[in-house]
Amino acid sequence: MGSRVGVMGAGYVGLTSAACLAHLGHHVVCVDNDVAKVEQLCAGTVSIVEPRLPELVREGLAEHRLGFTADPTALRECEVVLLCLPTPMSPDGTADLSVLEQALHTLSTILSPDCVLVTKSTVPVGTAARIPAMSGSAGLTVVSNPEFLREGHAVEDFLRPDRIVVGAEPPDRDAADRVAALYAETGAPVLRSDPASAELAKYASNAFLAVKLSFVNTMAELCEQVGADIGTVTTAMGMDDRIGPAFLAPGPGWGGSCLPKDTRALLRTAEAAGVDFALVRDALRANDHQHALVMRKIRRAVTGAVDGSLSGSRIGVLGLAFKAGTGDLRESPAVAVARQLCRHDATVTAYDPCVPESDCPDLGIRVVDDPYLAAKDADALVILTEWPEFRSLDWPKLETCVDQPVIVDTRNLLDDRVLTGTGFTLLGTGTAR
Ligand code: UGA
Repeated sequence: MGSRVGVMGAGYVGLTSAACLAHLGHHVVCVDNDVAKVEQLCAGTVSIVEPRLPELVREGLAEHRLGFTADPTALRECEVVLLCLPTPMSPDGTADLSVLEQALHTLSTILSPDCVLVTKSTVPVGTAARIPAMSGSAGLTVVSNPEFLREGHAVEDFLRPDRIVVGAEPPDRDAADRVAALYAETGAPVLRSDPASAELAKYASNAFLAVKLSFVNTMAELCEQVGADIGTVTTAMGMDDRIGPAFLAPGPGWGGSCLPKDTRALLRTAEAAGVDFALVRDALRANDHQHALVMRKIRRAVTGAVDGSLSGSRIGVLGLAFKAGTGDLRESPAVAVARQLCRHDATVTAYDPCVPESDCPDLGIRVVDDPYLAAKDADALVILTEWPEFRSLDWPKLETCVDQPVIVDTRNLLDDRVLTGTGFTLLGTGTAR
């Protein structure tokens, strides 16, 4: 017998949680104040790119275990309510909790006294402890249960998580049990903690991944200087169980809606606590430097010199999303590089299988729906997102489209086999060439 669960927010975290919890046998109502989105969801239409999510939404609707509404009073009967609301970055790098505060205000008059409120989206350490006061309901029970979902793998990560973290104060043990029970079907290990540790665990995980990536990107730069190969270096590193092979691929920098926001927020938290987290600060700095390195390489590809002028050049960009498997442009390193190219008076034409022109109105670049059009008359092609399908493009045909057959491959997606029979020069990342 499943629980009656409410989910506040139908973004990628809220919608995935709602659909997956319904799939696990719970009765779920998901509330979002965007009426048009609610209507679409009620009709089984999912607008975000997330594998299996549309199927699970339709399954939940058909089996009457999942519903959507814009009316928060629908949460009145819920035993558990998950808060899956955006906590964007304020201009000073701290997390903006205004959406959460507003929701708490609404919920305080609706929730039943024994309802457990769960913070699921990433919130600064100490938020769970502050929520009763923020909502004006001193008796509210709040449990921290951070999400660790990757965009593009959210359903898989929800149904087969590495771990479930449940943070509650000791007197709220029953509430923690109720939250842990939501995931019983997944068989995942449950780590019980206090709320502050659970909240910090989320920031620690994302910041650690960011540090790992900046380490690899800087190591790739070093490889280029000393004639070593980053692929070999990271393979050797990854074979050490203590390091592991994941998150060792160099690129144009790390981005997305989470890693940049959460590393900056963690830095602000550390500063406020009087802790100098120089390592995280340097990881952010290295990430900005990574965009500059890509620009140097593009200059070299186009002009033969790392400080050559790009003015009047044509650059064909392959990939705009912050990673493959999504159309998300938030804090995308590809977008950062495209903007810099425009600033240096290059003409940029870009293709991304998941990004239509309408998503980039003020980017200052032309977005096309055909990779061969993006390559037309280009002085260099630049791969910025690791879409696997770029490997199987017709590279001999692309060679006939470009002006200069040179590729800057920031993701090391291509190799000589892919380019066999073409005259392309390949400038990889962290390789001697
Ligand atoms: C990240 C975390 O991985 C999730 O665990 C977390 O739940 C999520 O943030 C969140 O806080 O909600 P996501 O933003 O989907 O997930 O993106 P990642 O898959 O972590 O990729 C982040 C960036 O690192 C991308 O720009 C990607 O291209 C880059 N990356 C990743 C590399 O450059 N190399 C790699 O080897 C891996």
